[in-house]
Amino acid sequence: GSGKFFVGGNWKCNGTKDSISKLVSDLNSATLESDVDVVVAPPFVYIDQVKNSLTDRIEIAAQNCWTGKGGAFTGEISVEQLKDLGCKWVVLGHSERRHVIGEDDQFIGKKAAYALSEGVGVIACIGELLEEREAGKTFDVCFQQMKAYADAVPSWDNIVVAYEPVWAIGTGKVASPEQAQEVHIAVRDWLSKNVSAEVASKTRIIYGGSVNGGNCAELAKKEDIDGFLVGGASLKGPEFATIINSVT
Ligand code: G3H
Repeated sequence: GSGKFFVGGNWKCNGTKDSISKLVSDLNSATLESDVDVVVAPPFVYIDQVKNSLTDRIEIAAQNCWTGKGGAFTGEISVEQLKDLGCKWVVLGHSERRHVIGEDDQFIGKKAAYALSEGVGVIACIGELLEEREAGKTFDVCFQQMKAYADAVPSWDNIVVAYEPVWAIGTGKVASPEQAQEVHIAVRDWLSKNVSAEVASKTRIIYGGSVNGGNCAELAKKEDIDGFLVGGASLKGPEFATIINSVT
C-alpha cells in the first residue's frame, strides 16, 4: 500500500443530535490502531457538535463544499466556513452527488481545486455504475473521472482517491478484494502515466461500497487498497472501529 492507512466514515444524510452524541461517545471510547488516519464526515448541521465533542484523534470532513469563496450562493457552504468549524477534509465527487444530484466532472474539479487552495484535503471519489461495469467500461469511467480531477488540481499532495463502484454502495454487494484491487492498481497506473510516478506511489487509494466489520480484513490485505470510505457501517461506533483496526 501507499502511505498511512486512511479510513473515512461518511455519515451521509443521517443522524440526530442524540444519535450523533451516542456515536461520538462510542468513537471516543474505542481503541484505535495508531497507524491509521481516521476521518468522519457528519452532515453540515452537526459538524460543530461533533468537532466540540469528538476526540482530536479523529479529523472531520465535510460531505460537500461550494466551488469558490462564499457570498451570495443561497444554500451553499463555503470552504472558509468549513475551515472555521475545524474541517480538515471534504468528500467530493461522491456517487450520490454525481448521480442523484447531478454534479458533473467539471463542477467537482472546481470544488476540489478551491478546497485544496484553501488547505482543505480532498477525498476524491470515483466509480462506475453497474451498466458501465457490465459494458466493460469500468476503467474508462474511472480514468475520465481521474482526468477531471487531474485537469483541475495543481497538486495531489492533499488528495485521497476513493474508488467506490456505484453498484456496491449501500447495496450490501461489496466488490471482491480482487475486483477492487484490479481497479486500484489501474488507477495507480493511470496516475503514474498521467501525473507522475511519485504521485502514483504516494497517493492513497481507498475503497468504498458496502465495507463492514466482516469483509474489511480481506480487502485490507490487498496491495493497493490503502483504506476505506465507509457509509452505513460508520454509523455504528464499534463496527467502524473494527474497520479502522483492519489495517495490515
Ligand atoms: O461514502 C461511502 C460510500 O458511499 C459507501 O457507502 O458503506 O453504505 O455502502 P456504504
